[in-house]
Amino acid sequence: MTNSIKVKTREHAYRIHIAGGLLQKSGEMLRKLFSPQTHIGLMASKTVEKYYRGPVQDSLEKAGFTVSFFRMPTGEENKNMETVSSLYDALIAKGFDRSCLILTLGGGLVGDTGGFTAATLYRGIPYVQMPTTLLSQTDSAVGGKTGVNHPEGKNLIGAFYQPEAVLIDPAVLHTLEMRERVSGYAEILKYGFIRDREFLDRCIADRQKILELRDMDYLGGVIRRSLEIKAAIVAEDEKEENIRMLLNFGHTVGHALEQSSGYGTFRHGEAVLAGMYAALFLSMESGSLDRRTARHYMDGLTSVPLGVSPGEIDTAAVYPALSRDKKRRGKRLKFVLLDEIGKASVAEDLPGDLIRESISRTQKAFCREKGQ
Ligand code: GLY
Repeated sequence: MTNSIKVKTREHAYRIHIAGGLLQKSGEMLRKLFSPQTHIGLMASKTVEKYYRGPVQDSLEKAGFTVSFFRMPTGEENKNMETVSSLYDALIAKGFDRSCLILTLGGGLVGDTGGFTAATLYRGIPYVQMPTTLLSQTDSAVGGKTGVNHPEGKNLIGAFYQPEAVLIDPAVLHTLEMRERVSGYAEILKYGFIRDREFLDRCIADRQKILELRDMDYLGGVIRRSLEIKAAIVAEDEKEENIRMLLNFGHTVGHALEQSSGYGTFRHGEAVLAGMYAALFLSMESGSLDRRTARHYMDGLTSVPLGVSPGEIDTAAVYPALSRDKKRRGKRLKFVLLDEIGKASVAEDLPGDLIRESISRTQKAFCREKGQ
């Protein structure tokens, strides 16, 4: 029995299935959607290949599918058009056509890059996401954002292209290093901040239980709640014309931190966590969120251990990186702020000095916690 959530956009509907051991049942699950004649391009990095290619490929072949494997590079610096171009070459060489299926097994890099390849090869072939990190299980594998980085900014090239299904097996998180777990945890907190205070408070109180993967059923419930929030938002606004922007809470400063420090210094969620601190500060200083509440949650964020200190980044480099934010319209930067915990809105035209101050306050806050 899997736990499933429906994602419905204007032109497409699919299900997210969540269950421990789903990896070993991937063939059976995909047989409900695809004929056994389907040629599957299974994409994974070398590390994920080592742990999980065997069980997935066995299950797919047992279900009758033909499988070709494509090894993906690792590292944010390889999330680019060269990787996509090599995938086009390899898929075409193997005779892939529109009747084939791409199956991405891995974290955000594999999902976003494989998804973008699926979105653009032959003007679109079907794909299914099997996310293996906490961040991709709670965020990036759902909602159809596919794409790659450009030297000028993160995810600047991409397409909204929805998968045919998302298969989530929380049991695979055991092989995930702690920094990656924290990275996914930040996105979980994000859903609470923008939509569900009770969920947020529970996830803050249960931080260790979540990060140490103490209870798989509980964790499955946390993933489910995160994705229910995401699915509802994506159903209303697939192309990020309005409320989907709320899913970028903490991401404006987060992306700028990631970019100005060089891709790979921060895990994405670590930068988002610091970015949420900046967003709480801005919410407080612009008067939308009361000070006591903001302070309480800001202190909570600084107690989460990050593998990198935002304080080590040159503030002067972070501010200009904001100008490459995708939410920007002309010179106007957009920030997701909180009106209350669990209720977010988009603000424009915040004073530049206040934005600069939010960055330096964030850097100081995380330095202090690290005893620097
Ligand atoms: N990760 C934010 C979104 O999918 O819109």
